[in-house]
Amino acid sequence: MTEENQGHRLTKKLYIKTYGCQMNVYDSARMADVLAPLGYAPAAAPEDADMVILNTCHIREKAAEKVFSELGRLRPLQARKNGQGGRMILAVAGCVAQAEGAEIVARAPYVDIVLGPQTYHRLPEMVAQAARAGGHVLDTDFPAEAKFDFLPEAAAPQGVSAFLSVQEGCDKFCTFCVVPYTRGAEFSRPAAAIIAEARRLVAQGAREITLLGQNVNAYRGAAPDGAGGWGLGRLIRALAEIEGLLRLRYTTSHPRDVDDALVAAHRDVPTLMPFLHLPVQSGSDRVLAAMNRRHKADDYRRVIDRLRGARVDIAFSSDFIVGFPGESDADFAATLDLAREIGYAQAFSFKYSPRPGTPAALMPQQVPEAVKAERLAALQALLAEQQRQFNAAAVGREMPVLFEKRGRHQHQLVGRSPYLQAVHAAAPERLIGALVPVRLVRAEANSLAGEMLLSEEVPA
Ligand code: 5AD
Ligand code: SF4
Repeated sequence: MTEENQGHRLTKKLYIKTYGCQMNVYDSARMADVLAPLGYAPAAAPEDADMVILNTCHIREKAAEKVFSELGRLRPLQARKNGQGGRMILAVAGCVAQAEGAEIVARAPYVDIVLGPQTYHRLPEMVAQAARAGGHVLDTDFPAEAKFDFLPEAAAPQGVSAFLSVQEGCDKFCTFCVVPYTRGAEFSRPAAAIIAEARRLVAQGAREITLLGQNVNAYRGAAPDGAGGWGLGRLIRALAEIEGLLRLRYTTSHPRDVDDALVAAHRDVPTLMPFLHLPVQSGSDRVLAAMNRRHKADDYRRVIDRLRGARVDIAFSSDFIVGFPGESDADFAATLDLAREIGYAQAFSFKYSPRPGTPAALMPQQVPEAVKAERLAALQALLAEQQRQFNAAAVGREMPVLFEKRGRHQHQLVGRSPYLQAVHAAAPERLIGALVPVRLVRAEANSLAGEMLLSEEVPA
């Protein structure tokens, strides 16, 4: 592309605001990719943008209301731009769009495009239509074909640590969760396409790849030779062979889908990091059954034991929900017991919040808000203390740190330990992308301070 062409093509400003999970972060990057050929370049703020996309998440409480209030803030910006003879195309994408598409069109008629997660490949066409018509374009259907097939190959480099979507959707139907409705049925990309994308990411400078999926360890994609399907363990082994790829991770997993091949990958593949987000949600069998989690607390304990047996230094993170309908004091105590027993490096915990259209929203025995708040505080105190201890235990140890970018101070880089702990240390900029042994010297509020031993540096 000549300078002139480039100048011509990159004339429109695209602002994307991303809510929620890593899958959305990934999707936002892909939307930016599909719009680049139309001349849209990323902008840091919505003011004066030619297109604004809200990539929404439905998991959190009042998600739809937050989207409507953000739209309310954008409306005057859009009016000003349109009034000046320009045009600001406003799009709502993601799970709120999927779940509430019709309501968005009704309540915020100035929104030009509403599109669900399955239809991002059609975005350029929808933008063209919206620009032409000025009307609404609503596309939240689940087409039979996979959206992955239509997306151009990722263009924008993601940096040292990259995300790669391998699986979408969920067939588990936990009774509290909207994902099976908003993201649809499980679909796995063919292994060959994933390996090709991983190679491309590494060629663009990625040194760490996190494999993404709503239910990533349910991955079952076509094998490269077309014979049968590969599970996640097999896929990880193949990806580990890519030269220059130093670290692999995956998220989010379901305890039911941790098979022997995946456990074996944790044992055999050194680039697979010893840190796993494995949500348990509750420690009570009664609540787990009501949640339709399809496992008991002891099944979860056994999965943890198998993984620890395969890799002694593995650490865990989890999601918890407190105050699920019918949760008694004894049920909650079982959750505290399980958390105490496992000992998490880090964890997320939420008050149960009813999602319209999910079975749990209609269950009797909804737990009063005050009880939920009390339980959440107790669980979070425990989990925060476990996290503090985990970080404190790292102090004095030496760990490989993958440097990702410059730090806040001069001559400082920040990166991640194998356990995703943020680590900052004095280091030269050329070590961005390198895996370097660092002595951890201090635990701070959100990160660890480290010291690099220059003589031991390992070039990437
Ligand atoms: N209420 C509270 N938390 C929820 N999560 C999902 N749905 C709900 C809900 N209705 C939490 C779960 C899940 C995480 C991503 O969000 O813990 O693992
Ligand atoms: Fe939702 Fe995860 Fe349950 Fe699927 S497995 S329904 S994504 S909580």
